Amino acid sequence: MAGSTLEIKNLHVSIEGKEILKGVDLTIKGGEFHAVMGPNGTGKSTLASAVMGHPKYEVTEGSILLDGEDVLEMEVDERARAGLFLAMQYPSEISGVTTSDFLRSSMNARREEGDEVSLMKFIKEMDSALDYLEIDKNMAQRYLNEGFSGGEKKRNEILQLMLLKPEIAILDEIDSGLDIDALKIVSKGINKLRDENFGCLIITHYQRLLNYITPDHVHVMMQGRVVKSGGPELAQRLEAEGYEWIKEELGIEDETVGQNA
Ligand SMILES: Nc1ncnc2c1ncn2[C@@H]1O[C@H](COP(=O)(O)OP(=O)(O)OP(=O)(O)O)[C@@H](O)[C@H]1O
Ligand SMILES: [Mg+2]
Repeated sequence: MAGSTLEIKNLHVSIEGKEILKGVDLTIKGGEFHAVMGPNGTGKSTLASAVMGHPKYEVTEGSILLDGEDVLEMEVDERARAGLFLAMQYPSEISGVTTSDFLRSSMNARREEGDEVSLMKFIKEMDSALDYLEIDKNMAQRYLNEGFSGGEKKRNEILQLMLLKPEIAILDEIDSGLDIDALKIVSKGINKLRDENFGCLIITHYQRLLNYITPDHVHVMMQGRVVKSGGPELAQRLEAEGYEWIKEELGIEDETVGQNA
């Protein structure tokens, strides 16, 4: 079988005792690009954090499987080693660790002991990815994300993505804050990874990104669930008409999970 499969089944997640995700079902296979859209506060980032194992997010029901292995039993670092990757909506600044050191140790963490990438090979790969993403070489020597502009942080997430080559990536609003040229470069980086061994879930508010990265499947989240799925035409309709028609169709008054639960 080519590529990995991430299966999210009936996922319920609570934060501080409050239920945010209320039964998410989603399957991402190697080779597939999925877009997740949906109004603010409907649980998209919560889904991403829960898959990666953020300690604040308690899974109360349902399952997450990667090639049949129980992801919920894995620690955060094991999830990364198993091939999951998350580009966060708000990447953290890590003072004292350079981008380059961070990248190298993340790459090595995914490899067996004794099989670490040599410094030469690492520098070569990093330089070529920096070139590809048109990132200033000096950036790699700066502390991770510290003082980076919004757009620089997003580009840096794609740099990690390109070097780590995960099986399944979740990209949370990778397009937010990017200028038009940067949007094209980031999209180019993501598209370069497109092959049967790479599956990707792209959380976005805008069709604009999907003009560059054509999704195979588009899902809409409301009230902590996937309420509608379709092909790329679904995202186009959302861009043109907004979300009201889906709410009407499904009889949803308040699409958020936050306030009324
Ligand atoms: N750590 C947290 N503590 C308390 N509430 C939280 C936490 N994380 C998320 N929530 C709440 O869960 C709900 C869903 O948040 P989430 O960030 O998943 O939404 P989203 O769909 O990603 O929205 P956006 O499009 O604005 O990024 C919100 O009401 C939010 O306030
Ligand atoms: Mg979010």
